[in-house]
Amino acid sequence: MEAYLNKGIKAIIDQFPEVGNILDEYGIGCAPCNVGTCLLKDIVEIHNLPADKEQEMMSMISGVIYPGREIAFPKIKREKATVSKEISYSPPMKRLVDEHVLIKRWVALIPEVLKDLDIESKDGIQLILDGVDFIRSYADRYHHGKEEEILFKYFDEDLEILKVIHEDHEQARAHVRAIIEALDRKDKDAISENLRKYGEILNEHIKKEDEILYPWMDRNLTVSQVGELFSKFNEADDSIGYSPERYLTFIEGLEERY
Ligand SMILES: [Fe+2]
Ligand SMILES: [Fe+2]
Repeated sequence: MEAYLNKGIKAIIDQFPEVGNILDEYGIGCAPCNVGTCLLKDIVEIHNLPADKEQEMMSMISGVIYPGREIAFPKIKREKATVSKEISYSPPMKRLVDEHVLIKRWVALIPEVLKDLDIESKDGIQLILDGVDFIRSYADRYHHGKEEEILFKYFDEDLEILKVIHEDHEQARAHVRAIIEALDRKDKDAISENLRKYGEILNEHIKKEDEILYPWMDRNLTVSQVGELFSKFNEADDSIGYSPERYLTFIEGLEERY
């Protein structure tokens, strides 16, 4: 079992697809992940299931890998188990979670925006440009900026989970570049497709951060690091040079319209 704990999850799921279903049952969505290089032991540690659930899940997994055999698996190093479903975040992490709320409101509007996508009229084009500005200035520079330039620096960036998160940011950026290029050549289908994919990535990405990454980071930061993060976030927000308020107004306007 030890060998499997140190193996990439994608390789394990390729060999034993049932393992993907088991992880899924415990709310660990590895099967659809496009990277999948996280090690099984890290996944168990990062998700921090209550001890009895972890035991139960690992028995099921070893049952699939070694059918009909009683396999003892080594104890995985973990911090104190999650006691309730309610996640409590440190103040800087709470700020990022709150920023996700506005990004999720935008993502929820994307299907409506796509329904009456208009790339001929001035207003139609402006709406696409405003959407791209929200993504680039609020979701990317203001929010992902704090993650990549400040928060993630407190951790080993070679960790698979951080590579997955970085990859999501990069994919989102690539879709935005593709939207702009498609707008230039008046390719409505490509705008639709890339905006739709952007929304899908962000939905999953925010869920990963809110439910897995940030709680795990909070468990690994010291009190003084949390304080330091809080002031670095303030400095970053002050230096951004524009008020995030206008993006709230943009989203509220769209919500009224649709
Ligand atoms: Fe992120
Ligand atoms: Fe985020």
